[in-house]
Amino acid sequence: MDMEKLVSLCKRRGFLFQSSDIYGGLQGFWDYGPLGVELKRNVKNAWWRDMVTSHDESTQPANGPSPFEMTGLDCTIIMHPQVWKCSGHYDLFHDFMVDCRESRKRYRHDQLQGRWAAYNGQRIFVATESGGEEGCENATRRALKYFHLRTKQQDRLEWDGDLQPLTAIADLTAVLGPDATEPGTLTEPREFNLMFKTIVGALGGEEDTVFLRPETAQGIFVNFKNVVDSTRLRIPFGIAQIGKSFRNEITPRNFTFRSREFEQMEIEFFCHPDSSHAWYQYWRDRRMRWYTDLGLAGDRLQLREHDRDELSHYSTGTADIEYAFPFLPDGEFGELEGIAHRGDFDLRSHMEGKLDEKSQPLEVELDEEGNPKHRGSGKDLTYRDEASGERYIPHVIEPSAGADRATLAFLCEAYSEDEAPDDKGKMQSRTVLKLHPRLAPIKAAVFPLVKKDGMPEKARELYRSLKKSWNVFYDEKGAVGRRYRRQDEAGTPYCITVDGESLTNDTVTIRDRDTLKQWRVPIAQCGSELHDRLQ
Ligand code: GAP
Repeated sequence: MDMEKLVSLCKRRGFLFQSSDIYGGLQGFWDYGPLGVELKRNVKNAWWRDMVTSHDESTQPANGPSPFEMTGLDCTIIMHPQVWKCSGHYDLFHDFMVDCRESRKRYRHDQLQGRWAAYNGQRIFVATESGGEEGCENATRRALKYFHLRTKQQDRLEWDGDLQPLTAIADLTAVLGPDATEPGTLTEPREFNLMFKTIVGALGGEEDTVFLRPETAQGIFVNFKNVVDSTRLRIPFGIAQIGKSFRNEITPRNFTFRSREFEQMEIEFFCHPDSSHAWYQYWRDRRMRWYTDLGLAGDRLQLREHDRDELSHYSTGTADIEYAFPFLPDGEFGELEGIAHRGDFDLRSHMEGKLDEKSQPLEVELDEEGNPKHRGSGKDLTYRDEASGERYIPHVIEPSAGADRATLAFLCEAYSEDEAPDDKGKMQSRTVLKLHPRLAPIKAAVFPLVKKDGMPEKARELYRSLKKSWNVFYDEKGAVGRRYRRQDEAGTPYCITVDGESLTNDTVTIRDRDTLKQWRVPIAQCGSELHDRLQ
């Protein structure tokens, strides 16, 4: 699939716009237009409904150790600064960046790769932002340009090894930056904290500095005790939250994939330490199924378990659900969601003070004077099992998804081009978004075949009655074939047409977006027909 075509469809049909477009845009920020807002809301609603409101706490789930409960929360974006000190984000949530003195561009150190090229006694490392074949082509083009060689003189270049990460290169003086014309323009890597800062209150001193949350998860941990004390929830249970997160990404890119403002859909699932690994496996598989049920099937979706040496020692597993986004080189996948076994790290850090992730067993990190580096709340966040009397700190399984990345993956998967007959029966190419009906922004469009003979009146009546239950669209302008095409591009699964026959026998035709099949149903049954098909 050609990403440029999707990006242009998204703008043309009102799915996504660059934020502050009329002022030239702001990098890493995106606005959802009239169709986009419905699509993203449907993604979030499907997640909330499937994970929280329709969860059956009375039945043991297939492959889950026991029945469990689910509930929700909605926390503030700005929280007490101590939250981020104890979570580790204050000290550890950073990327390394390198700046180019020539092009004035900034790159994430770990995202640059390159190849050693030599010609006429000079050896340079040609850095590029892309990997795979694209990265090699880019490196070749730029090496030829640098050494003033023509394409047909390619074989005069000597390559030493394949693409390798820039992080493996200790001395940057021979590195030709991705947008530079001379080597040696990249600065040494510097740390860059990804949290956005702001000031609370009118005085505005350093002590009033707060942060926009970089994840929704911490709001759940710091409310764990409130939830236990105010409900009858008993472990195991999960708390879900959907909300905005902010990260001052060094290189926002790939449409909404890496944005600076985005939405997360996170669950913190609290369980007994002994069953935590079984719960980890349950959530990993359950979350994978959620994506496949909504249409992300096939070899473009994968579940990747992290290797043991990638895991923190307190964790018994982390898996990423990944999608082969079309903007990535062939064979590369981008993260949609991470499912992590977090042990008791977060609750203990908020209780005792920030733990040292590298200590084993986990211990509070101390400053030079031997005091906790970042003090915890001192509140008791342990849990007492009423039946057994056992008191313990629950372990946590965290399925953490991005609403924007999921929306983008559903759009990429849905985009297709095929052929459909026009009004005269001649085959024409069409662009169609084959979105799952639950996600489609508009569920059905209602058309009068022509704008006369009482058809518009009958169609409007049907439209008004369906609108009470779904987002439906009425259109009477232009040839009916063109109206179908517009709905195909918007991903509308059904088009309902009032025609001459409707006036005599009160039936309409329903057209299926994907199969293009049409069938007649009595107008009175349109609601139940849609109800059955929009699940
Ligand atoms: N609480 C765990 C956590 O935040 P993460 O892997 O940093 O983990 C979880 O983020 C999910 O949030 C990612 O899998 C991705 O879907 C989404 N996400 C993270 N950074 C993002 C960004 N800059 N733009 C869009 N989505 C992002």
